[in-house]
Amino acid sequence: MKHLSSLYDLTAADVADIFALASELKAKRTRGEADARLSGRLLAMIFEKPSLRTRVSFEAAMTQLGGASTFLTSEEAGLTGREALADVARVLSGYADAIALRTFSQQLIEEFRDAASCPVINALSDERHPCQALTDLFTIQETLGELAGRTLVFVGDGNNVARSLAIATALTGMNMVTSSPAAYAFGKAFLKELKRRHPQAKVTSEADPARAVRKADVVYTDVWASMGQEAEADRRRKAFAPYQVNAALMAQAPAGCRFMHDLPARRGEEVTDEVLDGPQSIVFQQAENRLHLAKGLLAWMLEG
Ligand code: CP
Ligand code: NVA
Repeated sequence: MKHLSSLYDLTAADVADIFALASELKAKRTRGEADARLSGRLLAMIFEKPSLRTRVSFEAAMTQLGGASTFLTSEEAGLTGREALADVARVLSGYADAIALRTFSQQLIEEFRDAASCPVINALSDERHPCQALTDLFTIQETLGELAGRTLVFVGDGNNVARSLAIATALTGMNMVTSSPAAYAFGKAFLKELKRRHPQAKVTSEADPARAVRKADVVYTDVWASMGQEAEADRRRKAFAPYQVNAALMAQAPAGCRFMHDLPARRGEEVTDEVLDGPQSIVFQQAENRLHLAKGLLAWMLEG
């Protein structure tokens, strides 16, 4: 059974297959051609945190492919004490064809996956955001072509999105440079595991953002305080101030360099309006691609 609890669940060939399906389904939608290949299928979603893109893109993906979706908060699903996690997973697997979870704990998703008898998708945890990273590389491939050898420079917090991007770049032969304050860089344990799983991974760090972006094909950033870290926002704002992606930083990158952000953005913090709304930004194409990638992923998981 196919799961996506983390990008460690996928091979490079899986990623290529998902991208091919996403691309085919995107082209069909552009032509106005219907495709009901998931007719009669149900996606259940359990979210502990808010979501615009992930929730609605999965709902739209199921609807457009002829299936349906149902949305539950973790309280509604019984995960906050009404019922054992494994019982919820077993019961829900009897109704749904796939289950997407957005949680604080990565371990919760893995325990749920182990008890479920249908595919389980990580819709974001504190550790990972695999659907986002897949969408991001799909968007880069669509915009710049061949991924291998391209350089993605992530400026900011070494968070869930950055970790998933690191695994995704390792799977596709890209280079990734991270530029973060020392206290917010990737942890040693994460880098060791990445190298163990993908010895060819080319993930390096450069603390000075102006130096980091010099060879960037893409400059990427995300919020400085993720969901659940609101109490640290003031401290983080101070630590990350030199890491804002603004016009001065983009001027240090090659002229054709693109700007990406998973959104939601804190305009004026990690990125300025001039960059987010500027000619190098592909963030709204990236956001739309969450839909096409969700369709490719669901088709790959449920039809294979
Ligand atoms: N990028 C992303 O996952 O957005 P949401 O939190 O709105 O789903
Ligand atoms: N790092 C952010 C991503 C939101 C899509 C968070 O976890 O809040």
